Amino acid sequence: MSFKHHVFFCLNQRSNGEDCCDRHNAFALFDFAKKRVKELGLSGPGKIRINKAGCLDRCADGPVAVIYPEGIWYTFIDTEDVEEIIQSHLIQGRPVERLQLT
Ligand code: FES
Repeated sequence: MSFKHHVFFCLNQRSNGEDCCDRHNAFALFDFAKKRVKELGLSGPGKIRINKAGCLDRCADGPVAVIYPEGIWYTFIDTEDVEEIIQSHLIQGRPVERLQLT
């Protein structure tokens, strides 16, 4: 099984007080992305898969997600940012430059 786009959201949690994506609303934004992709009929084989991930080692930039096969990294603040990534990158094939990590 393969996907047109495979998206990994870091949902790492740390209990020692160190920064992590969980402290920047990562779970809610992951849930939003999963729900929207399903609502739009874009989920499933050959389409888009939204997956949870552990630490992706970009903690200082969190919350983060990476989209394959392009290997493009994003950070985002709210559901409007995530919606823009879905509409522009995942649907129209136009990566959202303003939210990309280098
Ligand atoms: S905690 Fe998210 S990248 Fe490390």
